[in-house]
Amino acid sequence: MNKYVIETKNLTKQYGTQKSVADLNIHVRQGRIYGLLGRNGAGKTTTMKMLLGLTQPTSGEVTIWGKPLRTNEKKLLPRIGSLIESPGFYPNLTATENLRIFATLRGVPNRNAIKNALDLVGLPYKDKKLFSQYSLGMKQRLAIALAIMHDPELLILDEPINGLDPIGIAEVRSFIRDLCTEKGKTILISSHILSEIALLADDIGIIDHGVLLEEESLAELEAKSSRHIRFTVSSTTQAARILEQGFHEMQFTIQDDYKMRLHNLDISVGEIVTAFVENGLTVSEAYVCEESLEDYFKRVTGGEGIA
Ligand SMILES: Nc1ncnc2c1ncn2[C@@H]1O[C@H](COP(=O)(O)OP(=O)(O)O)[C@@H](O)[C@H]1O
Ligand SMILES: [Mg+2]
Repeated sequence: MNKYVIETKNLTKQYGTQKSVADLNIHVRQGRIYGLLGRNGAGKTTTMKMLLGLTQPTSGEVTIWGKPLRTNEKKLLPRIGSLIESPGFYPNLTATENLRIFATLRGVPNRNAIKNALDLVGLPYKDKKLFSQYSLGMKQRLAIALAIMHDPELLILDEPINGLDPIGIAEVRSFIRDLCTEKGKTILISSHILSEIALLADDIGIIDHGVLLEEESLAELEAKSSRHIRFTVSSTTQAARILEQGFHEMQFTIQDDYKMRLHNLDISVGEIVTAFVENGLTVSEAYVCEESLEDYFKRVTGGEGIA
């Protein structure tokens, strides 16, 4: 058994001379929310389209539930729900009528499927309101209802919170989370909004210019961007000895001959500096540093950040 629901190997899409997605290797785990984070134009939609067989990769492979997508589309795609572009709903029909048309087209057998899907996204069943009278937030909910109506095990949602107001965003976030934790769905979601991904995803892939820069769990990422004290001293070897012997402190990392980081913030910076100086070290910098998630993303994308 493959432990990943989705796995890509060197997935590449080239348009003309430009690679929109380049050698992408992502790993989406069962029962988790994977957030694909990247600026506009980073390659998120192109990646998702390849995962859904909507566009063919130039090279590389997509494996879903351990099977190559290319030769198993008919088996795999019905088990996936997706929201890539706004579906073509009929403006002069109600939400329920719209879903009924799609349910018939797709042969969704469950009679309660439409009601269940509308319930999940918080839209009323058999409401008289026409689609054309819906707000953007309601349209987006209906699009997600359509994606989940056939009770797929895997959901691929391309920027599902785009264009929603803050309350709408919080609500959509909450039912996406429920779909994962209560219904056990595996969810791949994309966004260009860092804070959104940080609030929702269990695992994060950062994509920039078609390249996957990082892939890690939110827990790993938070540990990386945690608080620490930075020191610049005349000798980190000597400073390490003082921390170990004088403070019985081992929670530090040495960057180079002069720079080090202490990860225990319970010790007084003043006391450490005094001890360093008393032992003949020169201390040119000592400060508490908190790298925010934003700082972290700026660093890994090497640019102006994402959100
Ligand atoms: N059909 C296409 N033809 C040519 N270029 C495309 C096509 N689709 C996407 N691109 C280009 O690929 C890059 C990635 O686009 P996209 O996947 O839509 O990014 P994102 O969804 O992250 O905003 C962009 O530079 C875009 O202009
Ligand atoms: Mg896109």
